[in-house]
Amino acid sequence: MAVNLDEAALLQAEREFRESHPEYETTSRCDELREKDFARLDAADHAYLDYTGGGLYAASQIARHQQMLADNVFGNPHSVNPTSLAMTDLCEQARKRVHKFFRASEEEYAVIFTSNASHALKLVGESYPFGPGDHYLMTFDNHNSVNGIREYAKARGAAVSYIPLALPNMRTPMSEFRNYIRDNRTGNNDLFAYPAQSNFSGVQHPLEYIGEAQAEGWDVVLDAAAYVPTNSLDLSVHKPDFMALSFYKMFGYPTGIGALVAKRSKLAKLRRPWFSGGTITVASVQGDRYYMAEGEAAFEDGTLNYLTIPAVTIGLDYLDEVGMENIHERCCCLADWLLHELPKIRWSNGRPLARIYGPCTTNHRGGTVTMNFYGPNGEVIDHLRVEEEAARDNISIRTGCFCNPGGGEVALDLTENELVGCFTQPHIVESAKFTPEDFRMCVDGKSTGAVRVSFGLASNFRDAYRFVQFARRFVE
Ligand SMILES: Cc1ncc(COP(=O)(O)O)c(C=O)c1O
Repeated sequence: MAVNLDEAALLQAEREFRESHPEYETTSRCDELREKDFARLDAADHAYLDYTGGGLYAASQIARHQQMLADNVFGNPHSVNPTSLAMTDLCEQARKRVHKFFRASEEEYAVIFTSNASHALKLVGESYPFGPGDHYLMTFDNHNSVNGIREYAKARGAAVSYIPLALPNMRTPMSEFRNYIRDNRTGNNDLFAYPAQSNFSGVQHPLEYIGEAQAEGWDVVLDAAAYVPTNSLDLSVHKPDFMALSFYKMFGYPTGIGALVAKRSKLAKLRRPWFSGGTITVASVQGDRYYMAEGEAAFEDGTLNYLTIPAVTIGLDYLDEVGMENIHERCCCLADWLLHELPKIRWSNGRPLARIYGPCTTNHRGGTVTMNFYGPNGEVIDHLRVEEEAARDNISIRTGCFCNPGGGEVALDLTENELVGCFTQPHIVESAKFTPEDFRMCVDGKSTGAVRVSFGLASNFRDAYRFVQFARRFVE
């Protein structure tokens, strides 16, 4: 349970915060919803600060979905019986709702339901027609589910490369990005992938990359998983060829559903490595032939998670009702406050407790703040210890590298030599295994992970304040 907060000090801090961030007032709808739809947070005294890990669902979303299930009879879609048709109709409504939410034209974009963002990315990786003479280019700053596509590229003989990040901001200078896309294009099948928002540092990489890379002949994969929960994305303006996302990150429920939003023209370029129930028009055993279905159906293997797909419509309605601008503004204000307060926490010798990774303003940065804590002599305080102590205060944060090794390696100053040295130690080569403990031993003295705080729809000042108070206790 949480330590006792000095409520008077909290009120005073909130007054000052509201004065310095007058735009926060415009997001008061989120406070109303916190009381009504997220009352469980305060009832159990939770400070939930892991929205980049998973969004939270509103109680009313669940009630609406439960009511729909209780009031109707639904069968497996794609048949012509009445219960099946009712379900098909709701699944197609959900697809249209995704189009509308992202302002994507139905003629231009297909919405393929997947189990999550990783599954959406895998569909692209396994089907993209990589071959010798092609190129797969990524930014250092990527989730492993984007990094993993490199294995498909390498297996089929395509070149793979990374665009580095620059410290301290953990961005890539535009000129460097331009050099990479110009110098690495092959004119064949060239795929470029990057995240709209880093799940490590919260940095928002320019959406302008999309058009610029396309103009040089690249197909572009936008990993929107960490961006879309707190930012509007307009696919009538920025038009990636493929976009991956997970719905639970946007509105908490349902888990197990994501989407690959793909240009129909680019789907035609993909070659699926197999067929399955649902993806073909005809397959024959004796004739040894199969014919793929058109559009979305060719990528949706087997039976969809159909009973929960209508909850996607409910979740998107909910976000629209709250207003993405409100959510965005709220998260930026809270992140901004944190970015100003954390550097003020210092040991008696004047050394700061926290080192924050990424930019120190909320300009092109989302509501995610990642850091490490250091002792009075500059020694790192293990991120696992920070997480354990936060848990004692009922504060949910995330620590580690967040499946983003490139971001982590840059932030934590782990060099290529060091990493190659780690992976080529004889006992590692022999066992072909590498545990977090091996990693820790190998980069002795350096941190192997970081501490991440992330805000979302239901966050309020109290949550941010609790984290700052928790951090202060380290130096007291
Ligand atoms: C930027 C980014 N991409 C992809 C993913 C993968 O999402 P999922 O685990 O839902 O497939 C995550 C998850 O944290 C993420 O933050």
